[in-house]
Amino acid sequence: MGSDFNSPSSFSSSLESSRVDLSSSDTDQDGVFEKALLLDGDDGNSQYVLVTGGLGYIGSHTCLELLKSGYNVLIVDDLSNSYYRIFDKILKASQEFHTCNQTALPKANLSIMDYGDVPAMRELFKEYVAGPVTAGITRRSRIIGVIHFAALKQVEESIRSPLKYYENNISAQLKLLKLLDEFNIRTYIFSSSASVYGSQAAAGQLLCEEDCLHEPEITSFPSATGERLVHRPPNPNFTAITNAYGRTKLFGEAILADLARSDPSWKVIALRYFNPIGGDASGLLGEEPRTPSTTLPAAISRVLTGATQNLNVYGDDWDSHDGTPIRDFIHVTDLARGHIAALAAASSSASWSSKEEGGSVKENFRTFNLGTGSGHSVFELVHTLEAVSRQAIPCRVVQRRPGDVMSSVANTERAARELGWKTEMTLVDACRDLCNYLEKGEKKKD
Ligand SMILES: NC(=O)c1ccc[n+]([C@@H]2O[C@H](COP(=O)([O-])OP(=O)(O)OC[C@H]3O[C@@H](n4cnc5c(N)ncnc54)[C@H](O)[C@@H]3O)[C@@H](O)[C@H]2O)c1
Repeated sequence: MGSDFNSPSSFSSSLESSRVDLSSSDTDQDGVFEKALLLDGDDGNSQYVLVTGGLGYIGSHTCLELLKSGYNVLIVDDLSNSYYRIFDKILKASQEFHTCNQTALPKANLSIMDYGDVPAMRELFKEYVAGPVTAGITRRSRIIGVIHFAALKQVEESIRSPLKYYENNISAQLKLLKLLDEFNIRTYIFSSSASVYGSQAAAGQLLCEEDCLHEPEITSFPSATGERLVHRPPNPNFTAITNAYGRTKLFGEAILADLARSDPSWKVIALRYFNPIGGDASGLLGEEPRTPSTTLPAAISRVLTGATQNLNVYGDDWDSHDGTPIRDFIHVTDLARGHIAALAAASSSASWSSKEEGGSVKENFRTFNLGTGSGHSVFELVHTLEAVSRQAIPCRVVQRRPGDVMSSVANTERAARELGWKTEMTLVDACRDLCNYLEKGEKKKD
């Protein structure tokens, strides 16, 4: 992946000594960089969260929320679906936040490389070993946890080119996990997806984590006699998923469950996202991919910016109040904060102290839905965006797509109970922030 960038490159930034000129937020420095090994302003003791794919849509918002919460971040991204300028924007938004709150600005380092490039990643990890690297001696890493976003995510493309998806989403992840093990980094948050539920969503019920289990679980329910324990067997249903992308998420989870079972020092959380939408309230960050995204919010955005004339609506004869499918749209900032809750919960039992108050996860592999728990139809989203943007969004009803389901809405109880996390923003907030981002982007083009 990312073969157009044939040399790993590192950049770092802090308030004291930024290697990145914050005034150059329009700079797109795609290309080959010289490797800069120095971590400016780093005393060699600072701890970092590694974020792979940290310049992508969800990754960039998560990096910003991590920085706002006081974590130092190390981003690894090969720019295959993002731009260098997004790093500048994360720094700018973080700096604005910390200046306003008079709080210290955490460090942000960027390494432009393929996360599956083992030699380059090994060199990077060596830079973050606490103390000098000595052969044969196991040392602690200054990387306290990993949030793994880097992946390919186009469903239709994954049907045409499955090997490309298995290579980037599965093979490269295996290499990363082996390296992490080598460097004693075993707190891992995985970007999964509601697509692991496959056609189970067709039943129209709220989707529970127990609907897709990789190992047996015992769930306790309050009952008249105290507590009722229900034993649930593993039930991953590979055939319920209609595309290779979804299967890379299911297989990714299964691999992580096996790894965690084999070694209790791993602490792994797989987060199953529902439908992210919107952007940071500053208007600086939104969805800015190289390959046009096929999600509904991205398709509507293209109508709002005039890039396309109509929105294709895939069927208006579904069993819903207005005939269009129901989805659980979650503000991307809420989603980003879910990662911080997960990191804190996964870390609360680890050797290092967590910065966040929150939940605690006892199991060393656990899945969580990240959604709002409320469904909205496609037409409801369209009408909300029309009202917020004061712009018409012409729709063209076309045939249903194979594999689409009527409803996909999260049961959010487990995340609330165990992560201490729930969404705070509404669909209107998400639409407002999406329009704000698009408007700023459009003004910049003028
Ligand atoms: N956006 C959604 O609707 C959605 C829903 C469910 C799950 N997810 C998952 O969330 C994660 C992030 O999604 P997103 O929407 O932010 O995607 P994105 O494409 O915007 O971000 C992915 C980032 O990873 C980088 N990347 C890809 N392959 C890489 C590699 N080999 N090495 C280094 N960097 C690499 C890309 O350049 C990009 O910056 C993905 O794993 C995706 O499957 C997304």
